[in-house]
Amino acid sequence: MGVTQTLIQEHQLILRVLGLLRRARKRMENGKKVPTAFFEPAMDFCSGFADQFHHFKEEFLLFGLLSHKRQGELDSAMGALRYQHECCRQSIAGIRQALAGYRENEALAPSFLLENLAVYVSFLQRHIHEEDKVFFPLAEKVLLPFEKTALARQFEEEEEQQGGRRAVFEKYETLADDLCRIFPPG
Ligand SMILES: [Fe+2]
Ligand SMILES: [Fe+2]
Repeated sequence: MGVTQTLIQEHQLILRVLGLLRRARKRMENGKKVPTAFFEPAMDFCSGFADQFHHFKEEFLLFGLLSHKRQGELDSAMGALRYQHECCRQSIAGIRQALAGYRENEALAPSFLLENLAVYVSFLQRHIHEEDKVFFPLAEKVLLPFEKTALARQFEEEEEQQGGRRAVFEKYETLADDLCRIFPPG
């Protein structure tokens, strides 16, 4: 599997959970309650899989290599993508912070939760689209075969440190299944 294919495969699982978060957002917009038992594991997914497992490889390995290679040519695109990663991290922190009050039915908590949830879902959806359709095809064009091989090896080493790609996928696919059970459609 090519390096950007690896990342696109991860996007598929992230998009699945984003779909559930979008549904949670809609339900809250309609004044209904979404159980905190849904949000807590959902945020574990966002931190553990989307941020630590996926964004880490993009930011520190792929962007790192590209920034050396193109001597600044791709810097503004990578700057925008990095900024969006950071916004996602801040939104996760905001959601986690709001959850304490949401659990206790504090009056302002649903608004704070909804605000951060809206930013997270909207930013990450757009971000993934941009990477899949624009940035990754560009990266595939500028990387030489030996650089792709080296990058793939670095990805594998990083994944091994987190328990191995297969184990990480199994863990977070199971988590996504659980989220679906906790918060079924309808
Ligand atoms: Fe990204
Ligand atoms: Fe990504």
